[in-house]
Formats: sequence, structure tokens, C-alpha cells
Amino acid sequence: MAETVFAPWNDPQEKPLIQFKGVTKRFGEFTAIDDLTIDIFEREFFALLGPSGCGKTTMMRMLAGFETPTEGQILLGGQDIGQVPPNKRSVNMMFQSYALFPHLSIWENIAFGLKREGRDKAYIGDRVQDMLRLTRMEKFAQRKPHQVSGGQRQRVALARSLAKAPKLLLLDEPLGALDKKLREETQFELMDIQETTGTTFVIVTHDQEEAMTVASRVAVMDHGKIIQVSTPDVIYEAPNSVYVADFIGDVNLFRGKATARPEAPATPAPQVDSTPEHTPDPAPEETQSAPQEAPARVAQPNDLGKWLHDKILHPVLGKRIDHTPALPAPTAQELANPMSPPAVEPASAPVAQVEIPAGGIEITWAEGQPSVIATNGDPTHDGKEVVLALRPEKIAISKDKPTAPNVLQGKVIDIGYLGNISTYHVELAGGLMVKAQVTNTRRISRRHITWEDEVWLSFSSTAGVVLEK
Ligand SMILES: Nc1ncnc2c1ncn2[C@@H]1O[C@H](COP(=O)(O)OP(=O)(O)OP(=O)(O)O)[C@@H](O)[C@H]1O
Ligand SMILES: [Mg+2]
Repeated sequence: MAETVFAPWNDPQEKPLIQFKGVTKRFGEFTAIDDLTIDIFEREFFALLGPSGCGKTTMMRMLAGFETPTEGQILLGGQDIGQVPPNKRSVNMMFQSYALFPHLSIWENIAFGLKREGRDKAYIGDRVQDMLRLTRMEKFAQRKPHQVSGGQRQRVALARSLAKAPKLLLLDEPLGALDKKLREETQFELMDIQETTGTTFVIVTHDQEEAMTVASRVAVMDHGKIIQVSTPDVIYEAPNSVYVADFIGDVNLFRGKATARPEAPATPAPQVDSTPEHTPDPAPEETQSAPQEAPARVAQPNDLGKWLHDKILHPVLGKRIDHTPALPAPTAQELANPMSPPAVEPASAPVAQVEIPAGGIEITWAEGQPSVIATNGDPTHDGKEVVLALRPEKIAISKDKPTAPNVLQGKVIDIGYLGNISTYHVELAGGLMVKAQVTNTRRISRRHITWEDEVWLSFSSTAGVVLEK
């Protein structure tokens, strides 16, 4: 099948368009870019994101040729551009203050760079027409910049930057001047234009939503370094550090000590008279306590059927809805005497039990609070201080105690109503403030959780990302 996913960064054969190789930029004593190495590929829409002063503009200015690296190399199409002057690079930079010439018409503004290049009239005419069409500004060609709206001016600036057909267009906060709605519209236009022209875009933005919307990959920077570079979904769902998790979107951080959870026992193949997998016991956490080489024990009639279903029928017929709680492997006592009753009294268990996969870690984050189970956590973190980063939309909120791997009690302190979603600020018993986000599928009058309500927050055992402190 043809390759449909655009991911040149995963292809070792692919040659990057831009390469920063150990680039450092110092201004006197101050290090603005610190030993930075990165590859950016042709046709990428690459976003640089980071706090003010982290070095985004400096990176762009070095690419455009307005600054030279103190150390390291910048390659464009495999060629070191260190000594190539700005006007000889196939790079165009659209600055945040995209000054259009006020006395020139929009048509003349777009044509300006082409005229300076000494292009012939026919070429310029065609090219400007193409750019006007691309940015949907044909109707306004004869107006002056002050006679069009802010968003339209922004599009003219873009048309002007694209007119010379640069290989690479650098956009430093290009939509900064626009209001939210226009900004969002222009983001989609930018993506369209980028796709249509096949130009490589590197955009700087302080707006993380904008970066997530437009970019093929996002680089999160801090103090002249790139902390993580990846696709927007990976940056959001699998941040590599507390810094990135905190910088991108809303996040709850549970800081605490990790304890490794036991791994699941190996599953031997069943025999007619043995049932290694399950016995009736409602405490799922105990499933991991059995030794790996569990000898066979007496079968219960349902177990072979369950095995047949899971291994043979399920792939053909689809999943059976199974309300039977997970059944643990035999205990040591049972192994010693296969006919003895189970060590744990089934009747003493709560009715509703949730099945939690084995392995991972649990995090003790506050005294007197149930620890948080993260089955996706790395058991080698055992005994270490870790942080569980949990997005608000991964947390459910309810008035009744739910059945879930992680259930915490708290009180609603604040509600942020954004129309489409509401964010509940819930104070847990330990004092930690947690945000839970709910999509408002009902009208506001029917919302049933309000200020001061005692509520339950719940989330799955893989809802968060465990990060080292
Ligand atoms: N010409 C210069 N001389 C001295 N220091 C500079 C110079 N240019 C930039 N810096 C410093 O380098 C650091 C990075 O600046 P840069 O403009 O790249 O930040 P930025 O990430 O673009 O920030 P912002 O989001 O505010 O635009 C800043 O601390 C800045 O003060
Ligand atoms: Mg800047």
C-alpha cells in the first residue's frame, strides 16, 4: 500500500532540509541557544514553542542569516549556510511586525520582492495573480494596506513572503495581531497554503493551541535548548518531562513515591482437568501473587469454557460481555493443597470490583489518601520520587462513588464554564487542587454538580503519564 502518513522524520533514508548541528549562540556572556541539534524536513510545518526569551527568534534569525552561530553548523539542503548571505538563501522570513509599504497597493506590495529580483513583467504579473488567488485577496489588489482588515493585511504579508517561492518560510508569530476567531481561520488558511505550495514552514508561536493545530511537529524549547520534539499528539499525550506536560495544555501533577506493583503471572496453557488462570476471588490486586510455575489445580467447569471462548471463539465471534469479576491465580496455600478452599473469602468482598491489570506502579502522593495506580508506570521507578501527569479531560467527576482503578474524593471549589466544556476545580482531602474537565453535552440548567458539592474523581490506571522528577 502507498505511504499516506507524512512522517519523514521516521525515515532514515530521508534527508533533512534543515539541520542544526550542535549550534550555540552567545550574546556576550549570555547563551541564547545552547548546543542545539535538530533536523527539519521538506514540506514540514514545524512549530517552535517556548516561553518568552527561550531563543525562538534567535533560531529563526540564524536560519534566515541575520545572525551567525557562535559554534556549530546550520545546513540547508545539505549545504553549510554559515557564510551564505540572507538574500542568497532560499529562505524568507515573515516578521511579527510584517510592515507592508503603506503607499503601495496590495498588488505592488506583493510584487515588490520580485521587481527587486529583476524578474520580467509577465512573470511578475502571473506570480502576483497566483499569490492573490492563493490568499483570496484578488478583489483587493488595488487597495492600499490601510483599506483592508487586519486579517487581510496578514494575508498580504504572507502572499508577499511566498511570492519569491522560497524553499523555506519562517513565520515569527505571524498571527499575533489577530483576534481569536480570525486567528483560527487564518491558521487553517496557512495550513492550506502550506499544503498547496509544498513550502516548508517554520512557525514561532507562543500559543500552544496554534502550534498543535498547524504543526506536523512541535519543538518545545526552554533556555536555548529543545526539550522535546515530536508530533502534537505525542507532545500532548506522552510528554517527556514535567516541563513539557506543564507547558502544553492543562495538567494535574501528582507528586509522590513510586512502588512497583507485582507483574502478572505467566499463563500456562489449560488442560482438561486444570485451570491455571482463574478461581473465584474478587480481589484483583492479588492476581499477581502466584509463583510463575504454578502447578495445575482442579478445574471448575466454567474455566475451560472461558479459555475456549477467549482463545478460539472470541477472535471469530467477537468479545463476550463478561460480568464475572477477574479471578486470581492460586495462592501459595492453595498450591500446597489444591483442594483447600480459597484463602480469601469471596463473600467479604465488595459487590462491584474493577479489574486492574497487573504491573506498573502505585504512587503514594498524600498521607491518608489512596495511592494512585499507574499500570503504565515503569516498575524500575520503585522507591523513586515520580510525578503522574494527568490531563483534566481524562478524569471523570461524579456525585456517586464510581467503580474505577483510581477513585479520589474531593469538593468542588470552582467551575470554569467555557460553553462547550466545563472545568471543575476540585480540592482533594489532602489539599491538592485537581482539575477535571467535562464536555457539556447537556444544557447548563441540567448540570447536576455545583460549587461546594462533595464529588468523586475517577480515572483509569493508564490515564496519566509517569515522569521522573
Ligand atoms: N542581540 C542580542 N543581544 C543580546 N541578547 C540578545 C540579543 N538577541 C536576543 N537576546 C537574548 O537572547 C534570548 C533569546 O531571545 P529570543 O529573541 O530568541 O527569544 P524568544 O524565544 O524569541 O522570545 P519571545 O517569545 O519573547 O519573542 C533572550 O534572553 C534575549 O534577551
Ligand atoms: Mg521572539
